[in-house]
Amino acid sequence: MEPALASPTIDRRAVVSLFSRLRTASGQANPLPFYAELRSMGDVVPAPWGGYLITSYGLCDQVLRDRAWQVPDSGWRARQGDGTRWGARSSREMSRTMPALNGMQHTRVRRSVGNMFDRNTLPVLRVSIEKTVEKLLDRLTGELRDGEADFSSIVSEELPMSAIGGWLQLPPADYPLLRSLAHDQVFTQELLPSASQLARSDAATEQLEAYFRRLVQERRRAPGDDPVSAWLRTWDGLESDQEAADEAVYLLALLVFLAAPETTATLLSTMVWLLLEHPLQLGWLRAHPQHIPDAVEEVLRYDSPNQVISRIATADTTLAGVPIEKDRMVHLMVGAANHDPAHHLDPHIFDVRRKASHLSFSGGIHYCLGAQLARLEATTLLTGLLRRLPGLRVSAAPVWAPRVGFRRIMELRVARS
Ligand code: HEM
Repeated sequence: MEPALASPTIDRRAVVSLFSRLRTASGQANPLPFYAELRSMGDVVPAPWGGYLITSYGLCDQVLRDRAWQVPDSGWRARQGDGTRWGARSSREMSRTMPALNGMQHTRVRRSVGNMFDRNTLPVLRVSIEKTVEKLLDRLTGELRDGEADFSSIVSEELPMSAIGGWLQLPPADYPLLRSLAHDQVFTQELLPSASQLARSDAATEQLEAYFRRLVQERRRAPGDDPVSAWLRTWDGLESDQEAADEAVYLLALLVFLAAPETTATLLSTMVWLLLEHPLQLGWLRAHPQHIPDAVEEVLRYDSPNQVISRIATADTTLAGVPIEKDRMVHLMVGAANHDPAHHLDPHIFDVRRKASHLSFSGGIHYCLGAQLARLEATTLLTGLLRRLPGLRVSAAPVWAPRVGFRRIMELRVARS
């Protein structure tokens, strides 16, 4: 199919208005009409704040796989100037972590962790995740005896924190503080953070820095059978200087921690909300539990926790015929691309049997390293829910955070019929 070119008649104000509506809690309650409107403007839409919005599945996929497009690294951020969002403390710290590294620097860090959630690690994690799911469903069942309960705070927020915290062997008493810092820190990765959001993110980054630097020092003093101690052993072999090894491991621990809890919590709440809204499919899944992994993939396609991925042009180029200058940023609108009718048949239909591809874990060399852990948590939770809570229903409209890049269900009230 001939790719649609960006329309020269695109009204800048129409795009601004679309994003301000999309950014509200009600826009987030159903972003699909906004994405349809955006796709109708073209595959490559000039962003009013600079750069371009890429809306088609094919182009997003192409950019992710093409090494001519890079992530916004520290050099690029510095070129944008100190007074911009890219000069914020939180942004500068993120620029030192794996998803903001390019070329050999990225390869070196990514290789150092290998496949974190491989066939040896996953079965061990599965046992503890199954136990946590049972415990959380016990708590939910107890709360539901008195009427309604918030699935999001009781289950979705707890499971990923306990999974990543347990894996990194962090003290459970630290989970509430770490979770709230992770929620604040994410603003620096949002599409258009406000000054006050950046300030929250900077403050959270400072506390997280101190926390994870201390953790690395503790594991240095008393190494154990945990990933941080294992990374220290690896990096001692890669760096001649112990301080450099400690710094590399601190950045790994910080990143792995930040990448995990919020994205996965969103996946879990979205999964439960979508399935409770589609009771026939939920019933079908109960009869065909072997399709639970397909259902999780369809949730990821239908409503990706992360809706925007950014890349930078390393040279003057064109995308679908639209000239793009070197150093320009493109926003890959994966939430829109996952609903591209040129790629998915009837994309607006939620269908757990679909087995369709999606870009929710990105693609190419930065493909999400935690995808298998997130999938394990979602499939384990769904298995437990189907077995234990047959009459569950949504009892009030969910509440979404007013954002664009990272979706978050703040409240998902459920009851039993
Ligand atoms: C549903 C949950 C999750 C979603 C939707 C998600 C999504 C993503 C996306 C879109 C990227 C790539 C960003 C880019 O290309 O610029 C990414 C990278 C990454 N994710 Fe996840 N993630 C999830 C869970 C996790 C978990 C649980 C972990 C770790 C335990 C994790 C660790 C990472 C790491 C380390 C990277 C960096 C990879 C690299 O730059 O090479 N993620 N994730």
